[in-house]
Amino acid sequence: MTRETFPHEGALAESLARRLADAITAQPSIVLGLPTGRTPLAMYAELVRLTQAEQIDWSRVRTFNLDEFVGLGDSEPGSYRAFMHERLFKHVNIHREHIGFLDGRATDLEAECARYESAIAAADGLDLVVLGIGANGHIGFNEPADTLAARTHRVILDDATRAGNALWFRGDVRAVPREALTMGMATILSARRVTLMATGEAKAEAVCAMLEGGITTRLPASFLQLHPDVQVLLDEPAGECLPIRR
Ligand code: F6R
Repeated sequence: MTRETFPHEGALAESLARRLADAITAQPSIVLGLPTGRTPLAMYAELVRLTQAEQIDWSRVRTFNLDEFVGLGDSEPGSYRAFMHERLFKHVNIHREHIGFLDGRATDLEAECARYESAIAAADGLDLVVLGIGANGHIGFNEPADTLAARTHRVILDDATRAGNALWFRGDVRAVPREALTMGMATILSARRVTLMATGEAKAEAVCAMLEGGITTRLPASFLQLHPDVQVLLDEPAGECLPIRR
């Protein structure tokens, strides 16, 4: 894993947006795995700005988001699908049929997870997956546990994860769904390249353990140590227990 520390989260967002814009230009049919959450907000805003300023063409880009809440569909506030539409998809010329998303309202959630795996495989896998990290070390919604699931599956969310998502539900943690669908560990680790972003001191402990600790199902992000091409982008507070390398 390589790591870079930026003086503040705005600088990280700008740098990652630049890399994604360049990746699309270099490989117009790139297949991206994308996160939601607070961390990528500024990055998506900058990516939209770059796209418009430089007329970056998304017409052949395909995307698969990491996760979605069970029970929430396309247009429901709080759904990750709605998040992505507002922050990215409606601002770029991506084709609707190139947007891969788990349907949290599917009647057969197991079949929906299998469909997602097949869709990713049919796209010839993920070229680049962008990740955030939970303060508990989760990636996607692969929560710390005795065992982790390899492929896309249904999960029960940790209380801390639900609390961290309350901001998308008017601050009401009780409104945050208890379950989600998420890409599994092997789905993520099969991506050809991985970029993980983390900002703020609340992430510092998990980031330290991911980079320097042992590989453990109790910190799912630690499995990224097994991947040959991982970039970790941090702001100073998230990297604070590490010597800063610029
Ligand atoms: C969201 C996702 C999660 C988040 C993580 C950090 O799609 O996969 O793993 O990246 O929970 O969330 P924020 O950025 O809100 O701190």
